[in-house]
Amino acid sequence: MPLSALNLLWLSLGLYIVFATWNFLSNPGPLRKIPGPWLAARTRWYRAYFDLIRDGGYLKHLQWLHTQYGPVVRVGPNEVHFSDPEVYDTIYGHRSTFTKDPFIYGAFKQDLSSFGFQNPHEARKRREMLSPLFSRRAILKLEHAVQTRVSELVTRLNTCDSSIPCNLSMAFRSATLDIITTYCFAQSFSTLSHPTFHHPILLAILSGVTTIWTFKYFPSIYILANLLPSWLMQRIARLSKGYAQLIGYLSNHLDEIIADPSKLESNSAGPEQQETIYSHLLNPINLEKHDVPSKQSLLDESMTLLGAGSETTGNVVTSGVFRVLNNARIIQRLQAELDEAFPADDSETGMPKMSYQDGYQSNLSKLTWPAKTNFTLLMAGDVNLVSKSTV
Ligand SMILES: *[C@@H]1O[C@H](CO)[C@@H](O)[C@H](O)[C@H]1NC(C)=O
Ligand SMILES: *[C@@H]1O[C@H](CO)[C@@H](O)[C@H](O)[C@H]1NC(C)=O
Ligand SMILES: *[C@@H]1O[C@H](CO)[C@@H](O)[C@H](O)[C@H]1NC(C)=O
Repeated sequence: MPLSALNLLWLSLGLYIVFATWNFLSNPGPLRKIPGPWLAARTRWYRAYFDLIRDGGYLKHLQWLHTQYGPVVRVGPNEVHFSDPEVYDTIYGHRSTFTKDPFIYGAFKQDLSSFGFQNPHEARKRREMLSPLFSRRAILKLEHAVQTRVSELVTRLNTCDSSIPCNLSMAFRSATLDIITTYCFAQSFSTLSHPTFHHPILLAILSGVTTIWTFKYFPSIYILANLLPSWLMQRIARLSKGYAQLIGYLSNHLDEIIADPSKLESNSAGPEQQETIYSHLLNPINLEKHDVPSKQSLLDESMTLLGAGSETTGNVVTSGVFRVLNNARIIQRLQAELDEAFPADDSETGMPKMSYQDGYQSNLSKLTWPAKTNFTLLMAGDVNLVSKSTV
């Protein structure tokens, strides 16, 4: 009896279901030796539940998993999590040769930036191009730009209406956003001057941090969103207004520079000519080794630096201030060190060494993790990370 098209369809559907069930129930892959929850080894939706429904509760859950399964846990079909801090540098250090996982890095939509490049070689080349801008010499040269913004923040806080609570978390984020934009682009959005520190561009960056979750598990939403006309998108998502404003601004700024590269030189905000990221990216010092990036890549890099310099730093400052204010002993020690470093007679002392403050800051930036996610990397073959266990 010949099979009709309908029978064929049912047959293939049946086979598909059998295979899918078999795949789900069996525990395939080279990671099967590593302990971890049954469901996590089979589907990524295990993690999605914590990321999306429990509002980023995955990190807390990871700690619990390690108490149950030990220092190495299989947390996904092809994902393993380590709790031993010793492996951190091997995985994430500057010399790491692991490829970035497109599942998480791709969700940021900054594929052509030092952060988004999956290939570690490309990422390293981009970092080399940018590193002169973040050298000690470059930072000291722009100290005044940072100082101006900090003074502006202090003035704003001192003149706040004391009957209305002031949102410090947003105030700090406004300051860090203005600092990073001045630093990288020699211009800023003056978010610090917003009356309640809720500038639309700052809100767009903040909401972007949460949207990444959705893009991670539903990448097609991003493609769909890009197909819609921007006026419709703005209606749907009130916040995308700030986002469109930000992209529009960066894109126009770049077009101007690409059309007339002499603008790079006349970009001075103060009396001195200021270097911007584009001075380094469009005129690589070592042209044989570095290509000039495409416009999309320049945009991606700008977004990376904006996000990395505003949200992360703003978050560290917010937690730092919260912890200091909650601990009288820390306040006393910081105050004593400040009094000693800056005597009341206002004599010019330069930048004195403050070891307690430096230590506190460096501990804080290690403990404060801005994104509620772990950044996974891809490993091929056997990798020996933890003594006694090969993954
Ligand atoms: C500060 O503003 C942010 C963004 O609007 C909001 O999520 C947060 O809850 C506010 N904080 C306080 C203490 O009101
Ligand atoms: C920073 O952390 C180290 C190690 O935990 C600790 O010994 C040190 O006291 C901390 N420094 C400050 C200033 O909190
Ligand atoms: C993952 O995130 C947790 C919580 O912040 C952190 O303690 C842990 O070190 C991170 N793991 C890696 C490998 O970065």
